[in-house]
Amino acid sequence: MSYEVTIEPTGEIVEVEEGQTLLDAALRQGVWLPFACGHGTCGTCKVQVLEGEAEVGEASSFALMDMERDEGFRLACCCRPESDLVIEADVDEDPDFAGHPVQDWTATVSTIADLTPTIREIRLTLPGEGMAFQAGQYINLQVPGVEGTRAFSIATAPGTPNEIALHVRRVEGGAATTWLHEQLEEGQALELSGPYGQFFVRKSDPKDVIFIAGGSGLSSPESMILDLLDDPEDTRRITLFQGARHLAELYHRERFEALAAEHPRFDYVPALNAPLDDDAWDGVVGFVHDAAIAHFDGRFSEHKAYLCGPPPMIESAIGALMKGRLFERDIHMERFLTAA
Ligand code: FES
Repeated sequence: MSYEVTIEPTGEIVEVEEGQTLLDAALRQGVWLPFACGHGTCGTCKVQVLEGEAEVGEASSFALMDMERDEGFRLACCCRPESDLVIEADVDEDPDFAGHPVQDWTATVSTIADLTPTIREIRLTLPGEGMAFQAGQYINLQVPGVEGTRAFSIATAPGTPNEIALHVRRVEGGAATTWLHEQLEEGQALELSGPYGQFFVRKSDPKDVIFIAGGSGLSSPESMILDLLDDPEDTRRITLFQGARHLAELYHRERFEALAAEHPRFDYVPALNAPLDDDAWDGVVGFVHDAAIAHFDGRFSEHKAYLCGPPPMIESAIGALMKGRLFERDIHMERFLTAA
């Protein structure tokens, strides 16, 4: 059984299976609805039910207040229709959103490599024509024996849709990432769905680009940078600031140094905030946002910035960028990917 959901003001129609969330159905049918966390905590996906019934689901009381529930508001990522619906949504679609529909995949693990003592790269081969996605998007991975799914950004460029890479940080006590570090073997099959997410380069805006990344948050910027550098028509300047505590945690440095040597429009600035005594390091010492301030002399106007990493890094980077006259609308970030 399925229900028909009409989205106003565009009049687009989404077919929602019984028990499916409205957001899941929209993503699988390539229909734009704004969202971020995907699990009822941020409120980005709020819609209003104008006609019909829909259960609230696991919406947090911060993201959807009691009064809003009474007025018919729902979170698309949690709500399940109980009849045909007419809803009103913020359908101000981002012009750079490609709308690649979400699909289910069975992937095969092609290689596993340790990038740092706590981060490993898992490369997956996808069947058929592979997954169409935008650089910066993520997948939801089912880890055998672990309930639910875990989100991981795709670290490879869309130009290789049959081979995607994930950077998986081992989270202390996290069942899924521990399994992926200890049990996963090459040749194994894994179930996943994707692509998801609205963290991608706004290519229609020609401003130069700043990436600030920390830890395994390098994955989506890596995909976006490879994608931009792959485009012979693209001329914007790109600067990547990569933060790590010490040298053993700084990965893909040689890869980005080689790209910087090959592409004059790409600059790479790695920074260590706590180098060890025996680290052979003559680069920037300090936090990654301070490295960005020093590099740009504190002035960031006329750029687009993309941030991906631990929440404290993102907060510090936002503060530095806005103090340096970058508007909020020019700052994009991915801070919900906390796979454990
Ligand atoms: Fe965050 Fe729905 S509440 S996307």
